[in-house]
Amino acid sequence: MSALPILFAAESQPDLPLHEQLTRTLRRAILAGHLPLDSRLPATRVLAQDLQVSRSTVELAFSRLEAEGYLRRQVGVGSFVAIAAQPSKPRPRKTAAGLSQRGQLIVAAGSCRDATTPFTAFTAGQPDPTAFPRELWGKLTQQRWKKDGERLMRYGDSQGLPELREAIAGYLAQSRGVACDAAQILVLTSSQQALQLIAQLLIDPNDTVWLEEPGYLGARNAMRSAGAKIIPVPVDHDGINTDLSSTLLPPKLIYTTPSHQYPLGVTMSLPRRMALLEQANQHNAWIIEDDYDSEFSYDQRPLPALQGLDQHGRVIYVGTFSKVLFPSLRIAYLVLPPDLMPAFANARAAFDGHTPQLAQAVTADFMTQGHFAAHIRQMRLLYRSRRDLLVDCLQPLASVIRPVNVNGGLQFAVEIEAERESQWTAAGQAQGLALRPLSQFYYDKVEKNGWLLGYAALSNIQISTAVDTLKKCLRSVDSV
Ligand SMILES: Cc1ncc(COP(=O)(O)O)c(C=O)c1O
Repeated sequence: MSALPILFAAESQPDLPLHEQLTRTLRRAILAGHLPLDSRLPATRVLAQDLQVSRSTVELAFSRLEAEGYLRRQVGVGSFVAIAAQPSKPRPRKTAAGLSQRGQLIVAAGSCRDATTPFTAFTAGQPDPTAFPRELWGKLTQQRWKKDGERLMRYGDSQGLPELREAIAGYLAQSRGVACDAAQILVLTSSQQALQLIAQLLIDPNDTVWLEEPGYLGARNAMRSAGAKIIPVPVDHDGINTDLSSTLLPPKLIYTTPSHQYPLGVTMSLPRRMALLEQANQHNAWIIEDDYDSEFSYDQRPLPALQGLDQHGRVIYVGTFSKVLFPSLRIAYLVLPPDLMPAFANARAAFDGHTPQLAQAVTADFMTQGHFAAHIRQMRLLYRSRRDLLVDCLQPLASVIRPVNVNGGLQFAVEIEAERESQWTAAGQAQGLALRPLSQFYYDKVEKNGWLLGYAALSNIQISTAVDTLKKCLRSVDSV
């Protein structure tokens, strides 16, 4: 550990924020085996003193590495290295672990692991599995298995089961204004797989990618793993703001979450949508539209997808069943401009063949028999009531915790003062609250501090108890 200040100073990259520099130093030290598996890192306060940076810088770097899977943090115990690297003995191979340059990029980019504990307040991005019609799903599974088991046991179409592609195309046309037919749908296991496929097939090292700032780590990691040059583009109250785009390197690809910006929850306005499409067209760039939770819009009808406005085949639409059904289903899809499909279907076949056929068939039946629409309606009501409750419970703290854009989704962001973020986060986490700092979602300069608070998987009592716990924590560190 005593080498950390030296490594940190030696690898100084003044053009990057300090937390990003520290994240990189620690990541490299872990990958190089300087920090072995299970070794304990110094407390954030101690490391901050050693490195002569603020504690929140260290806190940010640690939280980021935890989210990426490099560190394991245990409240009251400490932070430990969570992955093993090969010790770097001199060998003929290029890297300690013998990874290709691509492999090193993938590992260095990190992964984006979702929490496996939906009922810990305030874990974000989790639907409520207890509200899912499991019995009905079981019945549909049995029926399909009986009727069609043999076909579904064979290898399947790498583009996806035809009846599921038909069902998805019908749903998207009707509910999301997406202009497509079943031939443009590629069924995958996750949005993450979609982002990786896009990165591998469309991005060369040093290609420029515009990403929303703050934005989704899964998209950033996928693009970095292909060697992209990341350009963070700020998000304002109308969505991604490309007004200053003439000062930016022209993009090869733009990633955006127009329906419900991740993590700030803004809906991209129509003029912005038109401007973005125009810019993509000018630069001959692709737009990835990640529509991950647009089904949950509580106060107004959701705007139709950007894809439906696209006249030039620039938009690649990404959808997932992780939020609207359940995450372990592992079914998501891409809507591709027709000329991209052969390459994408081919790559899917090359990487892993296809998504399990039985799950695809049951999902198709769930959709075509009307259960999907009914489930969305019910979950919209349930999650909206939980959203209302969380907003009400937070009301007494309105002077210090300000919700932003609570109009939809499974979570909303709240803003708190910058100086309070790391201390309040640590205090809440010590009481078992899953508080995800907003600063983690910035690539460059942090503009908003606060948390992303998930509520959809929490019962009413869990929501009010968690807010009480939060209030006590805040009172204990600050007389709020
Ligand atoms: C913006 C965004 N896109 C996609 C996903 C994940 O979807 P999947 O489980 O299909 O990878 C998430 C999950 O939190 C998300 O926040």
